[in-house]
Amino acid sequence: MVSFRSSPKFDKDVSVVVLSETQTKSKNFPFKNKEIENQISLLTKSGAFSGEDGQIFPLNLSKTFVLLVGIGKAESLSLTAFRSTVRRALLSSYLKKAKSVEILVHDHSDSVVCAAIEAVLLGTYSFDKYKTQDNTKSKAEKKQYVFAVNPQKKYDEAVTVCEGTNLARDLINENADVKTSDYLEKVIKDVVKGHKNISLEILNKKEMEKNKLGLHLAVNQGSKNEPKLIIVKYNGASAKDGYTAFIGKGMTFDTGGLNIKTTGHMETMKIDMSGTAAVIGTLKNTIALNLKKNILFVCAIAENAIDQLAYKPGDVLISYSGKTVEVGNTDAEGRLVLADAISYVVKNYKPARIIDIATLTGACVVALGYEYTGLMTTDDKFSRALVHASNETDDRVWRLPMYPELKEHVKSKIADIKNTGLRGAAGTVSAAEFLRQFTENTPWAHLDIAGTSYNESGDRWYFGFGATGAGVRLMTRYLQSN
Ligand code: BES
Ligand code: ZN
Ligand code: ZN
Repeated sequence: MVSFRSSPKFDKDVSVVVLSETQTKSKNFPFKNKEIENQISLLTKSGAFSGEDGQIFPLNLSKTFVLLVGIGKAESLSLTAFRSTVRRALLSSYLKKAKSVEILVHDHSDSVVCAAIEAVLLGTYSFDKYKTQDNTKSKAEKKQYVFAVNPQKKYDEAVTVCEGTNLARDLINENADVKTSDYLEKVIKDVVKGHKNISLEILNKKEMEKNKLGLHLAVNQGSKNEPKLIIVKYNGASAKDGYTAFIGKGMTFDTGGLNIKTTGHMETMKIDMSGTAAVIGTLKNTIALNLKKNILFVCAIAENAIDQLAYKPGDVLISYSGKTVEVGNTDAEGRLVLADAISYVVKNYKPARIIDIATLTGACVVALGYEYTGLMTTDDKFSRALVHASNETDDRVWRLPMYPELKEHVKSKIADIKNTGLRGAAGTVSAAEFLRQFTENTPWAHLDIAGTSYNESGDRWYFGFGATGAGVRLMTRYLQSN
C-alpha cells in the first residue's frame, strides 16, 4: 500500500532516505531533522557514507531507524538505475520486519517520484502464492509505504499503472493448468464488472466453428480446454472516434505441438499468454484511469497441446479471412491464432489502428535479448508514438525493419501463405510479415515480447524473478498521450 503526505515525520518503522552525492557533500538536506543531519555529517567526515550509487547505510537513532541510500551523481543517474537502487534498499535485510516505511526522495520532480513509486510497487513484487514457508522477503509488497511528498494526481496514476502491470505478472506467473481460457474469461469479467460503456463479445469453440476461425481452432485442437476469442469494447469517447485495438497472444501453454519443444525450451512456456496478460493489465489501467478513448481489448486464447487430435505439420488450414495457410511448423502457432483474431477484428469492428502483442519468436530473444521488446510496423508515425511512450516509461522497444522482400519468406508452394519463414533467417520480422498480411492495410504495429516478458535467471533492473508485465506501461502510456 502506498500513500503520500507533504513532509517527513520519521514516525514509521523505517525511514528510507535517498541522497545524491552532491546533497551528502553539501549537507543540503531536504528534511529538517538535526539528529539525522548531524549523523550524516559525522558519516561523511569519516568517509563511512558518501552517497555514492548503491550505498546503503543504517542509522539507529533515538526515536527512529533510518536507512540512508546513496544514488551517486543525480545528474548522470538513469531512472532505471535509480529504481534498481531504491528497490535494493527496500529488499535489504534492514526492512525485513518493518511493517511501515517512510520514503524520502532526493528530488521531488514527477519523474523521480514516479520512478520511486515503481521501485516500491514493481520492485518488491513477487509471486509467492505457492510459497508455504520462508516467504518473509517476498512479502515485501505487503508493507505500508508513505512517501514524504505532496500528493498529486500523477502519483496516484503511477500507482494505478503499477497495479495493472502486477495483475499481468500474476497471470503470467500462474500455472498453465490454472489459467485456462475459462479462468482468463473470469478475470476479464471481474476487471470490467460494474463499469458502464463496456461490452463483451466472447467466441467459444462453437461460435468459432460457425464463424470459421480455422487457424485458431486448429491450434487448440489437441487441448481439452476451449479456445476463446474475447473482445472487450471500451467506449470512452464519442462514437465517431476510431477504435484502437490491442490484440494479445494468449497461449496458455505452448508445447510446440507435434513439432514438440525440447528440454530447455518448454519449461517457461506458461508465459506464452503474456500478450493477453498485457492486454488485460492495460484494460484494468484504462478503466482505473477513466481514459477518454475508444478501445478494443482482444484476447486470443488457446493451448498448443498434443494428443491424437492435434493439428499437423504439412496441413493446409483455411483462415477466417479465407486465405489458406500451410503449417510449416506447429510451434509457430502464435501467428496463426493472431492472424484469425486480426482478421476477425478488422472485418467486424473496423478499428482505426491495431497493436498486437505476443511472445512470438525465439528469434527476437536472439536479436534483442531481454531488455528490448521488438517493434515492427510499416507506419513511421505509429512507430514514433510507441518509441516515445517507451522512452517515457522505460518499457523499452526497438524497431526492426519491415520490407517488401519478406513476402518471399512466407510464400508457400501449396497454399497462399506459410507459417514459417526461411530457416535461420529473419525469424522475428518474417513472423511479423505473416501477421501483416491479415491486417487489410489497417495501420498496425506488432510488439514481440518473447525476451522481455519474463526474468528467468533472477533480477533484471528493478524486476525480480518471473514475469515483468512488459507492454502494460508502454500501452497505457501510449493511450494516455495519443
Ligand atoms: N512461444 C514461442 C516463442 C517464444 C520463445 C516465446 C521463447 C518466449 C520465449 C513461439 O510460439 C515459437 O515457438 N516460435 C517458434 C517459431 C518457429 C517454429 C518458426 C520459434 O521461435 O522457435
Ligand atoms: Zn510455439
Ligand atoms: Zn508460442
